[in-house]
Amino acid sequence: MFLFSSLLTLCLVATLIAAGPCDLYASGGTPCVAAHSTTRALFSAYTGSLYQVKRAYDGATTNIAPLSAGGVANAAAQDSFCARTTCLIATIFDQSGRGNHLTQAPPGGFSGPSANGFDNLAPADGAPVTLNGQKAYGVFISSGTGYRNDATNGIATGDAAEGMYAVLDGTHFNGGCCFDYGNAETSARDTGNGHMEAIYFGNSRTWGTGSGNGLWIMADLENGLFSGFNTRNNSADPTVTSRFVTAVVKGEPGTWAIRGGNTASRSLSAFCSGSRPNASGYNPMHKEGAIILGIGDNSVGAQGTFYEGVMTSGYPSDATENSVQSNIVAARYATASLTSGPAISVGSAVSFRATTACCTTRFIVHMGSTVNTQVVTSSSTNALKLSASWTVVAGLANSACVSFESRDTPGSFIRHSNFALLVNANDGTKEFKEDATFCPQTGLNGQGNSIRAWGYPTCYFRHFNNVTFIGSNGGVNTFDAPASFNDDISWVVGSAFA
Ligand SMILES: *[C@@H]1O[C@H](CO)[C@@H](O)[C@H](O)[C@H]1NC(C)=O
Ligand SMILES: *[C@@H]1O[C@H](CO)[C@@H](O)[C@H](O)[C@H]1NC(C)=O
Ligand SMILES: *[C@@H]1O[C@H](CO)[C@@H](O)[C@H](O)[C@H]1NC(C)=O
Repeated sequence: MFLFSSLLTLCLVATLIAAGPCDLYASGGTPCVAAHSTTRALFSAYTGSLYQVKRAYDGATTNIAPLSAGGVANAAAQDSFCARTTCLIATIFDQSGRGNHLTQAPPGGFSGPSANGFDNLAPADGAPVTLNGQKAYGVFISSGTGYRNDATNGIATGDAAEGMYAVLDGTHFNGGCCFDYGNAETSARDTGNGHMEAIYFGNSRTWGTGSGNGLWIMADLENGLFSGFNTRNNSADPTVTSRFVTAVVKGEPGTWAIRGGNTASRSLSAFCSGSRPNASGYNPMHKEGAIILGIGDNSVGAQGTFYEGVMTSGYPSDATENSVQSNIVAARYATASLTSGPAISVGSAVSFRATTACCTTRFIVHMGSTVNTQVVTSSSTNALKLSASWTVVAGLANSACVSFESRDTPGSFIRHSNFALLVNANDGTKEFKEDATFCPQTGLNGQGNSIRAWGYPTCYFRHFNNVTFIGSNGGVNTFDAPASFNDDISWVVGSAFA
């Protein structure tokens, strides 16, 4: 009797453990041949590594696994490994067992911005979220960032059938080419029409568009973003507005589809389904089977955030994808705080005092558009005091962060431009608002705050030879130098002088 009831309990527990996305694709006869996520396991039994982070302080790496089989990533392990330094996501492991891991994308048709021509790696803490209340981190792709695998196993080639989905941030995008996840050229070069089949998300109007003003889920099939059968505007491909988006692209000989939905609540809808696009070179397809994330063939103009995604062997049925979407909805993606450390309240007036030993009497000031640090004291001129004083307003690009308006030049804000800090008038553009939005973090040297750029979360306010930049730890510019980085990016954010 005891044995029987224990077995019964075991069986009940087993059925209560929800099938993961890749269990559902396998049941549908279209198994995952790549499964990538920094937020959670995509198989219910998966306990292996999700991703690897590398820290700047000593170059050490650690792998982050789920908290339990099939569970959410152990973000606390990352937080403690990366405490008092910065970390990058070095590898996003393939959970399918095929070894289709994603690493720093190498140069191809274009050179990336890092020293060796590779693309940049994403910061480990750039895209915090919660899944069912548990903290995890997505992959925040700034322009210049990209991941790739050119030597894959099991990914569709030629005209073979495949499916894919990705969960993305519906508020982090641009019109640059191309924020993609999916199948691309193994040479990292444009080898012609039909050599890619990837999910695209953003508001590019260079090739296809959908209805409204965008954002659109489209398919990057090489030399074109496609929203449907016509090569340009397809009104059935709607503007997507949700914070979390599920994007689906799939293709088989002669046929393809784009589907999408709100990850928070909704079922998937078909945005396009049917014959391959009406342009030469896309039927049959010439897929090569490399995997890209955050880039086009290897163009790095785009930005976006990736949380999870898979690629399958075979053309998944709509019913299979619908059950995967139910699983994603049940994972309950939600936003998490983008700031940490001492509160910097909207409406307050502040000053920024350096904490590096050389310079603890120096503050961030501006003279016109030029920003640097200068010694400011209570006996400084009123003009200098005002130029070192800033009003905190809700972040122009993201109200979860802040912007700093000049006290002596209302309407002008601290922004970064080509990695220098400037004070410029708000011209209302998306680019200006993003460049003027900062997400304060706990000061990396234990004092005050480190002021992180919203759009480039590897970069923080830094003084270097008393000039101010946004610096990334160990990056390619002289002002990225690792020596005294933690001190140079930590500021006591005190009351304004005026
Ligand atoms: C696409 O066409 C529709 C009408 O069919 C139009 O309302 C919409 O503005 C167009 N979109 C773009 C981005 O051109
Ligand atoms: C494809 O587009 C061309 C040019 O717009 C058009 O003439 C042709 O009829 C289209 N083919 C189909 C099958 O719709
Ligand atoms: C920066 O300021 C500090 C202290 O005010 C001073 O000692 C140092 O020489 C300055 N450095 C440069 C490069 O001007």
